[in-house]
Amino acid sequence: MFIKNTVIMEQQSVHHLMNTHLLEEVFTVATLRNLPTVHPIHKLLVPHFKDTIPMNIKARTFLFDKVLELCSVGSKGLKELMKRSFSELTYSDLCLPENITSRGLDSVPNFYYRDDGLMLWAIIHSFAQAVIEHFYPSNADVQRDSELQDWISEIFTYGFLGNKESSCPTSFSSVQDLVKFITMVIFTASGQHAALNNGQFDYQTYLPNASLLLVRAPPTTKGQSTMQSVLDALPNVGDTGRFTSAAWILSAQYSDLVNTFGHLHDERFDDPILTQMMKEFQAQLSNLEETITQRNKGLPVPYTYLLPSQVENSIAI
Ligand SMILES: [Fe+2]
Repeated sequence: MFIKNTVIMEQQSVHHLMNTHLLEEVFTVATLRNLPTVHPIHKLLVPHFKDTIPMNIKARTFLFDKVLELCSVGSKGLKELMKRSFSELTYSDLCLPENITSRGLDSVPNFYYRDDGLMLWAIIHSFAQAVIEHFYPSNADVQRDSELQDWISEIFTYGFLGNKESSCPTSFSSVQDLVKFITMVIFTASGQHAALNNGQFDYQTYLPNASLLLVRAPPTTKGQSTMQSVLDALPNVGDTGRFTSAAWILSAQYSDLVNTFGHLHDERFDDPILTQMMKEFQAQLSNLEETITQRNKGLPVPYTYLLPSQVENSIAI
């Protein structure tokens, strides 16, 4: 319980709030400041930023100030945790294939976040590559796009705080550099957020499994725990209600959700070549839906969080 308590505090503040919600806000603001609405990268990305800023206003005032502050280390402790973690965050950490390899998780069995996430990453990468190569036939086209270079420079300076050790690009010199970065931005807004967000109700409402708050110090001697000492460590009924209701709200989809990942209601490209690329992207997502659905039939507990039909275009909750 105490170990899970530390895991859940880190999961919520570092991986969910900071590395998806707040990071996508950086990309959103940099896009609105640097890329005009007719810019192809603006058109490509903006559906994935649609709900980010209004959601983050709520995340700051509701999630952080009303729920997360009740956790074992309080809001001050979480901010310190986020600060320390962010100083060590690298661009590779945000790119799923590199993240999995660097953590030595390539061959761990039954790791469905990795399996489904890598397939989703590959689909986004191939879509981003098709669109970007259409607008940037050569590396020189990328290098001389001053708006795009200002965009990534601003992300490095204000998002990654100019930290060279993060390995965040300061400029783009090739088409492939750009494709990889755009893949990361779209994957973080969609799949990565879904994987961190959508299982909160399933895994965090039974508090002995994942409580943000424990109200006793961890035991220091083996064999001393009793049912009473376990119950004494759990939060009171009021705080339990706050945690579980927040998990329920955050795991729910909007009742008016009509466009899941890859299906946009405000398609901005009017070129038929781009429309065809979008159709191929949607077909690949539909194949992934089928692959995951078939795999899940053989699992005692299906892993559903990266089903494309459960992933949203932008961080909405
Ligand atoms: Fe979220």
